[in-house]
Amino acid sequence: MDFDVVVAGSGIAGLSFAIDAAEAGLKTCIVTKKGGDESNTNYAQGGIACVTSESDDFERHIEDTMTAGAGLCDSEVVREVVKDGPARIEDIQRLGVEFSKLSDGRVSLGKEGGHSKRRILHVEDMTGRAIEKAYLDAVRNHPNIDMREHSVAIDLITLRKIKKFGYTTDEVEDRVVGLYTYDDINNKVETLRAKAVVLATGGIGYSYQYTTNPEIATGDGIAMAYRAGVEVRNMEFIQFHPTALFTNSDERFLISEAVRGEGAVLRDHRGQAFMKKYHPLKELAPRDVVARAIDSVMKKTGDQHLWLDSTGIPSEKFKERFPNILAACERIGVNPSQDWIPVVPAAHYLCGGIRTNLDAETTLKGLFACGEVACTGLHGGNRLASNSLLEAVVMAHRGAQRVIEFSKSENLPTVEVPEWVDGNVQDSDERGVLAHSLDELKRAMWDYVGIVRTTKRLERARTRIQNLAREINDYYWNFKVETKLIELRNMIQIADLIVQSALQRRESRGLHYTLDYPSEMSDPHDTILRRG
Ligand code: FAD
Ligand code: SIN
Repeated sequence: MDFDVVVAGSGIAGLSFAIDAAEAGLKTCIVTKKGGDESNTNYAQGGIACVTSESDDFERHIEDTMTAGAGLCDSEVVREVVKDGPARIEDIQRLGVEFSKLSDGRVSLGKEGGHSKRRILHVEDMTGRAIEKAYLDAVRNHPNIDMREHSVAIDLITLRKIKKFGYTTDEVEDRVVGLYTYDDINNKVETLRAKAVVLATGGIGYSYQYTTNPEIATGDGIAMAYRAGVEVRNMEFIQFHPTALFTNSDERFLISEAVRGEGAVLRDHRGQAFMKKYHPLKELAPRDVVARAIDSVMKKTGDQHLWLDSTGIPSEKFKERFPNILAACERIGVNPSQDWIPVVPAAHYLCGGIRTNLDAETTLKGLFACGEVACTGLHGGNRLASNSLLEAVVMAHRGAQRVIEFSKSENLPTVEVPEWVDGNVQDSDERGVLAHSLDELKRAMWDYVGIVRTTKRLERARTRIQNLAREINDYYWNFKVETKLIELRNMIQIADLIVQSALQRRESRGLHYTLDYPSEMSDPHDTILRRG
């Protein structure tokens, strides 16, 4: 099957990229591994950060982003993303998203950690759901888009790879020529040929035992890119959200930072508000600071969770602003206007990823990446709250303009792409093994590669990950591909990249905090990994 562009992923990044490409007349395919709306985007609560108010300005948003980023933000990227924001917000509104308004008709702007101004546009506390729905409606009605649900990207097809199968070419530079995907309904592998491939497969949160992310967040795009020799950077910077709802299960529903933005206070088991000891901005300090403070208080007291006291927010206001959070609290018998909410940190967002430039180009020709899968340099060592939806939509637009240009200007020779070969494989009869390996991986990541790290813990994680990698590789080449196997292989690869990067960073900076190197080095640097 031939396309101008194949996009993997149907969150905000993939969908907005596809719409722009299709609008320009490109034959566009979207593959997405579950139903179209199953994405991190769909769960985004707080909103999208953008300068839209007259009392705000670009310089403040730039400064807040750079301060949160702990010396590692790329200032040009920060400036461009922040400045492109208002135009992209208009695109979102044109697709039918109506941001919440105040009673006087002005757009309601939320506040979150690290922001010096109210600048978060939101749709109640279900911003992502509203955006996802509007984009999916546009995609499903578009004549130039072939939308394939339950279609799992397995691996990139590159010239370098197919040369190994005997393909000959005069082209010296490697480039991407397509994508192998697994059709999860009909259990078969498909070969999609394309001039450009876009990875918009989102983050990695599901590699951790406790996470706010849904099951799709298994790092597939980053693992595929790494296997294809593409550069990935700063994989050690995992953002832990300070306030996920504590329950006895592994599930971690997010209690948006916007609740703290409206005045909620963190309290320890004695009822003391402790954040003033850790940062002058208290509950609205950057996320790394708040998550570490909670971790430290919990370790001191041995408590399983702390409390978020939102009883100061009038109940009518809570109901209007946070209906989804209210419903989640009520499901566990908590009334946030009267009771304190039990909260714990949980893995939330990956600041590192596939290295891209400001046109969403990766280090492999024809391969683009945008959204959480990518590392543009916007977030540096710690993402400012609600900057990720902004980054995704800005970078998808910029990338799409580049793909449109690329597919018109590049005269690419047609390539015979070999079909997927299953080899000597059999149906899996050991699904239990996959489930156990997944549990082991998620536990190791939580226990040894968490908020506070040490070299010894990271090395322990590395040993476990290497054992799992050996087992799963053996399994991968001897059994038929299936979604769980594809994902587990990718998660193990991602865990290895996170640990490698964390061991390389011999300092504490932003989201990477290690007791063995508690200070910042004087020269901020990226960690870059590339398969040789
Ligand atoms: P996603 O939205 O995660 O989409 C990835 C897509 O790729 C999915 O469709 C997935 O199914 C698909 N996919 C994955 N692997 C494959 C594969 N192998 N083959 C095919 N398809 C694949 N950010 C903010 O800025 N503001 C917020 O308020 C906010 N709140 C959040 C709340 C929660 C609970 C969570 C989890 C995150 C939140 N974030 C927020 C972060 C933000 O939602 C994400 O960073 C952003 O939505 C990522 O968008 P994306 O398009 O890159 O990826
Ligand atoms: C939240 O609403 O607290 C999440 C915001 C984000 O992750 O940017």
